[in-house]
Amino acid sequence: MGRQSPGVDDLVVASNFIRAVRESGYLSLSTALAELVDNSLQAGAAAVEISLHRPESSPFPEIEVLDNGSGMNRRELEQSLRFGGSSRFGQRESFGRFGMGLPAASLSQARRVEVVAWQHDGPKMEVVLDVDAIAEGDVSPLRARRVGPSETPSGCRVTWRVCDRIEYRRLGWLERTLRRDLGRMYRRFLAGGLTLTLNGSAIEADDPLMLTTRADGASAEIAFEPLEYELQTVDGGSACVRVRFASLPVHRWHHLDNLTKRRLGVVGGGGVSILRAGREIAYGWYLMGGKRRENYDDWWRCEIEFEPSLDEQFGITINKQGIRPSAELREALEPELESVARLLNSRVRKAFEDVKFQAATEASCRIAEAADRDLPILRRGRGRGGHGPLAYRISTTHLSPDALFATSLKSNTLDVQLNVDHPAFASLYEPLQALPDGSAAELRTAVELLLLAFARSAAGSTDPTAPLVAEWGSTYARMLQKS
Ligand SMILES: Nc1ncnc2c1ncn2[C@@H]1O[C@H](COP(=O)(O)OP(=O)(O)O)[C@@H](O)[C@H]1O
Ligand SMILES: [Mg+2]
Repeated sequence: MGRQSPGVDDLVVASNFIRAVRESGYLSLSTALAELVDNSLQAGAAAVEISLHRPESSPFPEIEVLDNGSGMNRRELEQSLRFGGSSRFGQRESFGRFGMGLPAASLSQARRVEVVAWQHDGPKMEVVLDVDAIAEGDVSPLRARRVGPSETPSGCRVTWRVCDRIEYRRLGWLERTLRRDLGRMYRRFLAGGLTLTLNGSAIEADDPLMLTTRADGASAEIAFEPLEYELQTVDGGSACVRVRFASLPVHRWHHLDNLTKRRLGVVGGGGVSILRAGREIAYGWYLMGGKRRENYDDWWRCEIEFEPSLDEQFGITINKQGIRPSAELREALEPELESVARLLNSRVRKAFEDVKFQAATEASCRIAEAADRDLPILRRGRGRGGHGPLAYRISTTHLSPDALFATSLKSNTLDVQLNVDHPAFASLYEPLQALPDGSAAELRTAVELLLLAFARSAAGSTDPTAPLVAEWGSTYARMLQKS
């Protein structure tokens, strides 16, 4: 591709093209930089080092990405900065596909990009693309030149100089943002052993599903059987889309303060993460049909994975940011995803109601526990650790409409689960809980203690009391229905 290269000068006006391509639509430094990290990973790099700093002589920052991948030979290097120059054009095995990522992403942030590559312990070779030089009419081809001996067997270093799209004053903020974004985008690779550093310190994997996030001894959990959808690829074959859901532990995390919730990514973190070839390319409210996003939806997460052979179905564009699902994809996924979303939303709502309910019954439970010291020890059903007073808990559950409540005795806690489907729930507990605090609180406590006492007696009795409790519950239900 020498000086006489046909077409290039005829087809595009280089000096204008180079300015226009700077607006190629990279939404952020993170998404532009991801193009370089993609290339490093595709070159088989096990370590990628990013540095972001401002040279003393310049008002604009510089960014460098160094990897220990396969590097490039002279021919590949001379192609690498050409628009459409790719060693894998049109392939669908991994990230790269269009041969645009390196030059377009680079110029979207910087006025000058330098690519240095080396292989087989050979010398380092360099190519440069400089916006100002081209704008001034320098259309000399991208010739590689030797720049010195290599220190490692193979690798590549891309340097963005004069990053005039980045405000240097916000460098600290930018570094934190990059850390978070890249940790999320490359979480799969980081979990698989990739070393990715920014200014010398490792970027940690950040999983929006929060399955490995420990806080207060709890993590999120997979909430549903993973779903799979078989879809048509452009070449007439088919490929699979995989969907996973996770639920955050409302009972354990609801009491965390807002700052912690924000830091962990609980608040405002709800949404769908879209992974292409294992790398996140979009995060937002996708493929949820008519379901709108609510605050409760922060408490469950969804991850959708696909391979590049399904790019057309997901509407992947050159700069690989966001998705635009095809009608076929939407028809295949949306109805089911929407109903799972509604289900998970209602589970979260229920969990918050439980939490509220338990908080309201806490006072009675403490009184019952204080009284427990003076009561004869329960004989039946005490598990391990059955010493000392019983702890009490009142929660809600769904049982057959005849049953007033169920009890369970686990690790010295007597859990009384009130049946929300028994008529007593609507005609007795709900009105009690709705009463304003004050005198009504005493009434509520008295009723709750009545229940706790009864539940304790039933749980502790050696006689088969189950039929009596059941009959009492169903008789009470019958009577309430007549009232
Ligand atoms: N870090 C790297 N290591 C080795 N080769 C690279 C690296 N970055 C880019 N390349 C080469 O440059 C070419 C152009 O990259 P790019 O413009 O991102 O297009 P694509 O990734 O779609 O092929 C790649 O096809 C690859 O041959
Ligand atoms: Mg690429």
